[in-house]
Amino acid sequence: MIRQLLKKLTHPFLKYGTQKYFLKPRAYVYEGIEVMVMPDVFPPHYTLSTKILLDYIKHLELKDKTLLELGCGSGIVALYAAKKGAQVTASDINPSALNALKEASLKNNITLDIINSDLFDVITNPSYDYIFINPPYYPKAPNNIKEQAWFCGENFEYFDSLFIQLAERQDKTILMILSQDCEIDKIKNMALKNHLQLDIELERTRFAERNYIFKIRRL
Ligand SMILES: C[S@@+](CC[C@H](N)C(=O)[O-])C[C@H]1O[C@@H](n2cnc3c(N)ncnc32)[C@H](O)[C@@H]1O
Repeated sequence: MIRQLLKKLTHPFLKYGTQKYFLKPRAYVYEGIEVMVMPDVFPPHYTLSTKILLDYIKHLELKDKTLLELGCGSGIVALYAAKKGAQVTASDINPSALNALKEASLKNNITLDIINSDLFDVITNPSYDYIFINPPYYPKAPNNIKEQAWFCGENFEYFDSLFIQLAERQDKTILMILSQDCEIDKIKNMALKNHLQLDIELERTRFAERNYIFKIRRL
């Protein structure tokens, strides 16, 4: 009950005040890296998932590892991984996110490849050492590019396509963050249909919301 109330107050997509706040570009900073988050881009400020991924990456040895952030949004995760020495590709379906990321990469003097792609459609590397995914997971058809950061389609079409494509690839470590707020069992079953299993790699509870980083492995 308290959790539901907290959720209502803090869900950045639902909260009018927050939506208004994000009508202007807003800076987000992590470990000295600054990105400008455009109004139609996923804001990492009040959601927990981006910060949990960043804190997880902090402890990884990434020097010279190849890494893809699929659906990079502001690109803060991709930039931080590149700063730690990884050879990073940042992809997203949202061109506005990628334009801002190009500027952030120049301003922060961090080099990475930036690709506009619907999932893996124009990604040519068949295998990365790491893939990080913070997916849209609310079941509703997105009405525009901004909503694509939050909604995965009425019937979870995003996950359908994602798991079909992942199953055909050779990547070493695939990590995906999900919240207890989404239909984790349904998503797990969709993965299983493609012979992929989601194993818990990390569990974090903040502000009464539990998040999981799952490792996706082939069966
Ligand atoms: C929840 S946001 C996460 C953003 C960023 N990774 C982070 O952690 O802050 C999901 C991102 O996935 C992108 N996205 C949604 N559908 C996509 C697709 N089919 N192909 C590529 N990116 C997609 C959205 O534009 C959005 O930037």
